Amino acid sequence: MSGREVLQVEELTRSFGGFAAVADLSFHVEEGEILGLVGPNGAGKTTTFNVVTGFLKPSGGKVRFRGEDVTGLAPHALARRGMVRTFQHTRVFSDLSVADNIRVAGHLRERGGIWRSVFGSPGNERSAVQGRVREILERVGLGALAGNRAGSLAYGEQRILEIALALAAQPQLLLLDEPFAGMNESESSAAMDLIHRIRDDGVTVLVIDHHMQTMARGCDRLVVMDHGLKLAEGRPADVVNEPAVVEAYLGAGSDVTAPATVAQAEAVLDVSELDVRYDRVRALRGTSLTVRRGEIVALVGANGAGKTTLLRAVSGLVPVTGGRIELLGRNLAGVSPVARVRGGLAHCPEGREIFPRMTVLENLLLGAADREPDASASELEHVFRLFPRLEERTSQFAGSLSGGEQQMLAIGRAVMSRPKLLLLDEPTLGLSPLLAREVAETLVRLNAGGLSVLLVEQNAVLALAIAHRAYVIENGRIALAGPAAELRNDESVKRVYLGA
Ligand SMILES: Nc1ncnc2c1ncn2[C@@H]1O[C@H](COP(=O)(O)OP(=O)(O)OP(=O)(O)O)[C@@H](O)[C@H]1O
Ligand SMILES: [Mg+2]
Repeated sequence: MSGREVLQVEELTRSFGGFAAVADLSFHVEEGEILGLVGPNGAGKTTTFNVVTGFLKPSGGKVRFRGEDVTGLAPHALARRGMVRTFQHTRVFSDLSVADNIRVAGHLRERGGIWRSVFGSPGNERSAVQGRVREILERVGLGALAGNRAGSLAYGEQRILEIALALAAQPQLLLLDEPFAGMNESESSAAMDLIHRIRDDGVTVLVIDHHMQTMARGCDRLVVMDHGLKLAEGRPADVVNEPAVVEAYLGAGSDVTAPATVAQAEAVLDVSELDVRYDRVRALRGTSLTVRRGEIVALVGANGAGKTTLLRAVSGLVPVTGGRIELLGRNLAGVSPVARVRGGLAHCPEGREIFPRMTVLENLLLGAADREPDASASELEHVFRLFPRLEERTSQFAGSLSGGEQQMLAIGRAVMSRPKLLLLDEPTLGLSPLLAREVAETLVRLNAGGLSVLLVEQNAVLALAIAHRAYVIENGRIALAGPAAELRNDESVKRVYLGA
């Protein structure tokens, strides 16, 4: 080896039963580079991470770290050598403060020697730990939120906190599994800048993500996987033009079908002057918004702007402190979440919230809990037409699905109740570009069949392409509203949300 290779993956294979999630995969990561691992949902990217970082044993092949054969070593042994990872699904302690999360990460690592020098000098212990925690949080831009409960952070901020937790372990090689999930273009671009600063501090980075614009701009090289195999490898500009990559991952053509225009119809959802508070924080302040029958309405805004709170208030999952919500003309004050579902509402939450210990089929049938058995058979058929991948995996535990497959399951389950109004919180989160476009097309088709949709989506390009109307929300207030086509051409929207 050249001596510049930090990680070498050689003919790696990992099978589940007869199914090879990773098949004969070889690649390397060079010292000081940022290598991107991309590929369609279920390609085997996370499984590769799991094997490399010791969370899964390989069925065959080798992993070398700085020349040493580390195949099959346990995660803590690898972490001690400087190999540290984050997880696709956020694993912060939501009841602890942001700073305490870092502190705990440091303590856990202390067994492996990380805070040891610090704890070796009891007199300075506290202030030294605090100093290091503060330094890490300043580094990642969460300094101002140090005292906040981690669970109260917006999804994108929690992803940054995950990176901070990994930094507390002082990695030499940092492996990030979808760090930009749940971020819009400007946020993911800022997070990529952070990764560059981390690299400039001497850390080598291997990163999985589906935000192609950000990955192509920020990675030195890309490795593309499909069906467990390496499909392509090279400089981003070359790789994204390879026909096989375009076909498997990016999809041809960039425009999704715009939905047919709709005549002015009655409101399915009418939200007026809504107020929601969490302790001292006013998450929504006099927010008003309408979804008419037959419309797709997009709600666009940065992390923490109040989008998820609005959907949760409509579903009855957070108490409102003022204002009024009407579903199909009925005031929802005092109406339980279950009764709202019976009234025609379905909510596909952010972060999926599937039941990991139940099978795919059991999860889907839960979505149809209130319907006749015959009806659920036809609903199932409908969902399997939308997502054939789920039909192949009906008896697999939902928790072992890939990230994108779990997202398909969450959307499928929401559609199972045949709703009149579908609330979608980031449906393309974690989906490959091709599949994200397919989901968008699916929404347009469902909408043509009479379903009204309120769509929260970080991929503002996609959301504004398929929506009839859109609202921009900032700090709990509607800042801008209008036909989606107009907002697409609005300069401030372009700058902040479209990555232009
Ligand atoms: N324990 C398991 N049993 C059966 N199949 C599994 C198991 N774990 C993973 N798989 C399958 O292996 C394939 C690869 O999954 P993996 O999580 O590596 O994909 P991925 O490339 O990370 O996809 P995504 O971008 O959607 O996260 C998937 O089809 C998944 O369903
Ligand atoms: Mg994955």
